Amino acid sequence: MIRIILIGYMGAGKTTVGKELAAALGVTFYDLDWYITMRYHRSVPEIFAERGEEGFRELERRMLHEVAEFENVVVSCGGGTPCFFDNIDYMNSLADTIYLQATPEVLAMHLKMGKGKRPLLEGKTPEELESYIQEMLQTREPFYQKAKYTLDVSLLDSASKIQESVKLIRDMLNV
Ligand code: S3P
Repeated sequence: MIRIILIGYMGAGKTTVGKELAAALGVTFYDLDWYITMRYHRSVPEIFAERGEEGFRELERRMLHEVAEFENVVVSCGGGTPCFFDNIDYMNSLADTIYLQATPEVLAMHLKMGKGKRPLLEGKTPEELESYIQEMLQTREPFYQKAKYTLDVSLLDSASKIQESVKLIRDMLNV
């Protein structure tokens, strides 16, 4: 049975790599933010606006408990998921957890390339973004480091680089 959970900061490539990994393994892919949106009929920014971050974290935890029970899945979490409650220990108890680790420079580049709306990054200038990431990583890193595996990701700006990460994960997990 395959159950892999990808964690890491916003812009690490969790969704991009997760989708391709699931396809390669022939299992179902779930993105936790999408799952939340589907279950609550609200986008993540809408949930933040309506319930605040605290309310979002409660929902996120509840939805994690649904998704992490599924079998034969690859799940990509939100950047904050492992950093609240006992979420990371819970994930470790059920799944192969992988931390997609990247430098603040790479994260900032991915975030600029992407179109996703992220309430925590709203209104940040490109200069502010990198230092904000750096600061936030200091508090988040201890949680990310609890993953069973770590994969260093550099700039994922081509299909072949994404496939390379998929291969490294498959080799690491022997799947
Ligand atoms: C968040 C990351 C987002 C999303 C929310 C909060 C975070 O997910 O869950 O905006 O706290 O890092 P991505 O990592 O997929 O952007």
